[in-house]
Amino acid sequence: MDKNVKHIGIFTSGGDSPGMNAALYGAAKAAESHGIKITGIRRGFEGMIDGDFVELKAKALQEAVHRGGTLLKTARSERFRTLGGRKAALQKLEEKEVDALIAIGGDGTFNGLLAFEEICKIPAIGIPGTIDNDLTGSDFTLGFDTAVNTAIQSIDKIRDTAESHNRIFLVEVMGRDSGYIAIHSGLATGADGILIPESGDDFVRLLETVRHYHSEEALIVVVSEGDELGVGLVAEKIREVNPGVDLRITTLGHVQRGGSPSAADRMLGMRLGAAAVEALLAGESAAMAGLMNNQLSLTPFEQVVKQHRVSEELEGLMKMLNT
Ligand code: F6P
Repeated sequence: MDKNVKHIGIFTSGGDSPGMNAALYGAAKAAESHGIKITGIRRGFEGMIDGDFVELKAKALQEAVHRGGTLLKTARSERFRTLGGRKAALQKLEEKEVDALIAIGGDGTFNGLLAFEEICKIPAIGIPGTIDNDLTGSDFTLGFDTAVNTAIQSIDKIRDTAESHNRIFLVEVMGRDSGYIAIHSGLATGADGILIPESGDDFVRLLETVRHYHSEEALIVVVSEGDELGVGLVAEKIREVNPGVDLRITTLGHVQRGGSPSAADRMLGMRLGAAAVEALLAGESAAMAGLMNNQLSLTPFEQVVKQHRVSEELEGLMKMLNT
């Protein structure tokens, strides 16, 4: 055990995601079990710059395990992108005598941690927290499973009206540059098409389907917000190919970010929260705690990058849908 770790600072950063509270609880519980103080930094890097600290007690966090969002609040910090902002943050951490950090967030958070490393020697462990599931180093990120379940519930409802009217529905789901939510929610709802930024020929295949569409059935197409065309243009092209179609667009939006975390996200949060504390105590730093093949893993920050690939198996299933 690293005797130098006596006071952990923990924060959530970037977009909130269901399961963040479970991760805070897992970390607080693990810290308390080792007799280590844990302080919450509110509003991510923004709060760090402002010295917005709050004492964390596992008992209080326990009551939030079933809640979405993050009790510590979160932000996307422009100020932390500047050296001045990072120096101010470091000063606040030193004043507070924080000697280890746990950060929960997406790729922006990991970029921030990498930049911070240049001036900050406080050991830090990250936890992948984003609904987009777009980080290498973990099979799943916190919130992804819940977001997919939320999308599925909505798409199922849309199917009811699509079937009743024999309409085409384009359903836009989140995932800034990543098609993971689209693939999973599309496959799980038996969609007729899925459009994602990672695939080059998905749209061509969809147009073939639309060309032979005769308005006697419903057609559900799940479109990732990161898709290169976007729902608006996709709708336009569909109408060009088949002017008779009755088409509607639904954007699910931020509803996918909220809600009570699924069992998978609660478990992921608990496991990674506790694992982050154990990693710091083992003397680890500058690494992301994740799950690979359901085993805890650590990936160095510089290897944590945005994931832009889809497994061949999933790509194959997507193609199968569009035939
Ligand atoms: O990264 C999570 C995410 O929900 C993306 O899917 C989406 O593109 C983005 O955040 C939206 O960000 P904001 O809430 O800042 O508009």
